[in-house]
Amino acid sequence: MTVTTHITTPRHVAIIMDGNGRWAKRQGKPRHAGHRAGVKSVRSSVEYSVKQGVEVLTLFAFSSENWQRPEKEVSMLMELFMTALKSEVKKLHKNNVRLKIIGDRTAFSDKLQKQIQQAEDKTAENTGLILQIAANYGGRWDITQSVRKLAEDVNKGQLDPGDINEETIRKSLSFADLPEVDLFIRTGGDLRISNFILWQAAYAELYFTPVLWPDFNEAAYQQALNDFAGRQRRFGKTGEQLAGED
Ligand code: IPE
Ligand code: IPE
Ligand code: MG
Repeated sequence: MTVTTHITTPRHVAIIMDGNGRWAKRQGKPRHAGHRAGVKSVRSSVEYSVKQGVEVLTLFAFSSENWQRPEKEVSMLMELFMTALKSEVKKLHKNNVRLKIIGDRTAFSDKLQKQIQQAEDKTAENTGLILQIAANYGGRWDITQSVRKLAEDVNKGQLDPGDINEETIRKSLSFADLPEVDLFIRTGGDLRISNFILWQAAYAELYFTPVLWPDFNEAAYQQALNDFAGRQRRFGKTGEQLAGED
């Protein structure tokens, strides 16, 4: 009998942190109270990822489309991003976490861009968990910027259009150097991807939970990990092939 080793802990977890607004509403509080409460869940999911041996955690914090929210909410989210960066980086650094921000940061204020750069630089040499915050990120933006880079290479005569393939596109996407996304979680109960990672989620295991992001604690995260551990990832093959029977 062939023994197939089954990897039960995802190397890369990506989460759409959704449900802050509804959480606040249920408490009779304004939406910003939900976003604030969500920071606690970020902290706990980072800590639990470290504890469980997850290598990369990618969190969707602000989408390309979120600019369409009321101006007050957008500026509050920017403010919160700024203060969280300031207050959390020391602790992340102490815990050997490497912080990366993915997305189009050129839309942020100079101050915020500087803060992001400083946080990334400070933690760049860390060898523990890689924490990616997706801010002003969109899956379509990512594919677009990848294709644009390749077009520029063609223009410079450095790339033959005939050589453009899945691998060249993949390599120009955000976080091409990291392990593939294994587990894709969305909190808040909606069953959609909302323009988060598209290309990179091609073979991720999807997990949707009605738990609102501020309530996403260790137990809720563990439930997602347990669910993942029970999945059979076939990558196009048959179950028999994977069991070594064929
Ligand atoms: C997710 O929570 C946080 C961001 C999109 C910034 P929401 O603010 O979308 O919360 P709901 O979906 O309205 O409950
Ligand atoms: C997705 O949530 C974006 C983030 C969690 C950052 P949204 O709340 O913006 O998604 P939709 O608009 O309901 O699809
Ligand atoms: Mg939402």
